[in-house]
Amino acid sequence: MNLAPELRAAIEKAGQSHLLEYASSPLLAKQLEAIDWESLPGLIERYVVNKNAMTIPEDLQPAPYFPLVPRNRSEEEKKAQAEALGVEILKSGKAACLTVAGGQGTRLGFDAPKGTYPIGPVSGRTLFEYFAQSIARAEEKFGAPIRWYVMTSALNREATENFFRERDYLGLRKDQLFFFTQGTMPAIGYDGKLLLSSPDSLALSPDGHGGTLLALRKSGALEQMKKDGVEYISYFQVDNPLVPVVNPLFIGMHALEEADMSAIMLAKTNPFEKLGNFCVTGGHLEIIEYSDLPAELAESRNPDGSLRFISGSPAIHVISRAFVEKLTAAGKLELPWHRADKKIPTIAEPKPEAPNGVKLESFIFDALALAGKTLVLEGDRAEMFAPTKNPTGVDSVESCREMLIARDLRRLRAAGVTVEENVKIELSPRKVFDDEDAVQLAKELKLEKLPRGTEAVIG
Ligand code: UTP
Repeated sequence: MNLAPELRAAIEKAGQSHLLEYASSPLLAKQLEAIDWESLPGLIERYVVNKNAMTIPEDLQPAPYFPLVPRNRSEEEKKAQAEALGVEILKSGKAACLTVAGGQGTRLGFDAPKGTYPIGPVSGRTLFEYFAQSIARAEEKFGAPIRWYVMTSALNREATENFFRERDYLGLRKDQLFFFTQGTMPAIGYDGKLLLSSPDSLALSPDGHGGTLLALRKSGALEQMKKDGVEYISYFQVDNPLVPVVNPLFIGMHALEEADMSAIMLAKTNPFEKLGNFCVTGGHLEIIEYSDLPAELAESRNPDGSLRFISGSPAIHVISRAFVEKLTAAGKLELPWHRADKKIPTIAEPKPEAPNGVKLESFIFDALALAGKTLVLEGDRAEMFAPTKNPTGVDSVESCREMLIARDLRRLRAAGVTVEENVKIELSPRKVFDDEDAVQLAKELKLEKLPRGTEAVIG
């Protein structure tokens, strides 16, 4: 295949003529056509050569947030009003779920798409099944359809869709699901040259969860949402089965504040917990990664001894459809890139032992800085955040399972059930969406006591 002369010239001008040697491959030629050659040299200069060292703005302040426990009557009233509004929104079918599932899950070391990981502590239910069953129960509860948008990468799209198809769409209606694929980004060697993974292909990787916003437009998802009357997107990550798939309080608070994009914040357990930090600078909300927040700021304290930068991000958002439409109206979206040094298999070095280049990813939370109005709502960690990043230790399969069991036991205790020692149970998400459902289920099953050593799936 011959490249068009203008494309050849653009590649040469961008300092990437080493690629031309392989350009007879149709696949590679197609990849080369998709690259914005004009902006590439600037990108390389900024993120590869100069490492885009982060400068902390002088006016950086901790971000305000609406607290978990209202501090006064007016907050109490606002919370009640928001919750009622959220329920109303859900009842009128104006909300949809969005799960980002395009990551490579390298830390977990699981070959298949992360969503197919059997996380259920007793049942071995997969992450995708947790969400699907919870969505089905929420639909039933609110009496309105809830569509589920699942973002994959080019690498795991097929395996993800096959998983759903083979399991009869996990009990959901086929047309309730919308799969779409995020964009890719070429990896760049330390010498500023794009890397080839084979003579046929650039070394490409998913463009980060920031790619969600543009992919929503390009895939037609936004259009479908508009047609369905969906105004609010409940956004969560595939590796957090504790998250409420839709949260009436959060959706209602977002709507009440007329926010473009909202975020849940959790009180950090220590100054250096690996969560992004909610900050305000230049009058807008921003998340500063834990690795970028200087130690003296991370450790600074209020007069009462609490951390000044207390707010950590569990990556749970409500996003207005209209905001995504506005951001992507021109068919492109320029979020900043974040660089990661990686071992990237290439034709020259199939199994690198040390990092040999840079992958660039964009992050969805950078859209907060572009929003006209934002809201941060404090969440209860035990009720919404159990990330499954590693096999063991912190943020692991183990800790996630423990948290799922603890949440379900709390629900049963609150429903009046006596729980003895050493009990391992799982409430079926198809039956139990919230505390009220747990009370109902305990009543139906006439459940009064879980004797010592019980191991069971309930519901
Ligand atoms: P992580 O940053 O934890 O990455 O993604 P990961 O790929 O799952 O895991 P590691 O870092 O390789 O171990 C957070 C969420 O964002 C999604 C992931 O699927 C996960 O739900 N994500 C990440 C995408 O959808 N696309 C991406 O390009 C990156």
